[in-house]
Amino acid sequence: MKALVTGGAGFIGSNLVELLLGEGHQVVVLDDISSGYEENLHPDAEFVRGDVSVPDVAASAALGCGVIFHLAASVGNTRSIDEPVRDSQVNVIGTLNVLEAARAEGISRVVFSSSAGIFGELKTLPIAEDHPQDPDSPYGASKLAAEKMCLVYNKLYGMRNVCLRYFNVYGVRQRFDAYGNVIPIFAERMLRDRGVTIFGDGEQTRDFVHVADVARANYLAGTSTSAAGAFNIGSGTRISINDLARVMAEAIGVPAHIEHGEPRPGDVRDSLAAVDAAAAGFGFAPSVDLADGLGTYLEWLRNDPVTRRRWAEQEN
Ligand SMILES: NC(=O)c1ccc[n+]([C@@H]2O[C@H](COP(=O)([O-])OP(=O)(O)OC[C@H]3O[C@@H](n4cnc5c(N)ncnc54)[C@H](O)[C@@H]3O)[C@@H](O)[C@H]2O)c1
Repeated sequence: MKALVTGGAGFIGSNLVELLLGEGHQVVVLDDISSGYEENLHPDAEFVRGDVSVPDVAASAALGCGVIFHLAASVGNTRSIDEPVRDSQVNVIGTLNVLEAARAEGISRVVFSSSAGIFGELKTLPIAEDHPQDPDSPYGASKLAAEKMCLVYNKLYGMRNVCLRYFNVYGVRQRFDAYGNVIPIFAERMLRDRGVTIFGDGEQTRDFVHVADVARANYLAGTSTSAAGAFNIGSGTRISINDLARVMAEAIGVPAHIEHGEPRPGDVRDSLAAVDAAAAGFGFAPSVDLADGLGTYLEWLRNDPVTRRRWAEQEN
């Protein structure tokens, strides 16, 4: 099979590319390198530099492909509050461009990277697929709109699109960025023996799912003969941010210097995925526990040339 991976130079996309190549598939990566890295590009994948929000870019990248994994996005709540128009251009119009590309090429499945951000504030725990969808940020709203487009194409054109609602993903190739995923931020500060700031009281909880499990979920959904619809992808466990900081400090071997700041706008209080629908739908089972996943991640980050280069620049 030949697969198009949009966002394949990004954190999750590059892990998926590696998995697909390892399973013997051909891969085309479409990415504009806006938040991804050339260092993440796999030498065995074909690379097309382009912007999914521009008409026809996805269509030419999809030529000859049998499935599309659509991960390219303007990512994150904070970024979407700063740049709401760009957020929807990439996340909604970009997804429509990808769906149209699939239709033009006769590709019956797009596996779309959605987000637990579509749910908004927690009403029931764990969060099942039918939890009320009431996003708290433009990002959550744009991901929800894009999901609905994928599902409308299933109804209109008999496609078998699958939307995967990731909870908090972490792991190898996740680098610090200004728009704030907590694990890379804590890791970077702690590895440099600096204190961390937790927004709010730190008792908010998150479901952290390892990127290898997320890549596998994409693969299973993309190769399933029958799956279609929207599925939660998490670890099915949760941890408070205070406990996460303690576990990470211990793994790194530094004391946890923690300060508390104001809660961040657009952040939910609690998060925990119910993952039985993905298990029933395409055999998904999270397999990496947090302690192991953090161990390999921290080892990778310590030796990551991109991260080390940035640290050196900051110190000069
Ligand atoms: N990391 C998480 O915890 C998480 C949680 C929920 C959902 N997601 C979703 O998973 C997907 C991958 O996220 P990630 O964490 O790997 O982020 P990432 O920023 O590392 O990857 C996104 C990739 O898309 C590319 N991109 C952005 N805009 C583009 C455009 N207009 N045209 C082409 N390429 C473009 C970027 O350069 C980058 O390589 C995204 O759709 C994101 O919304 C991530």
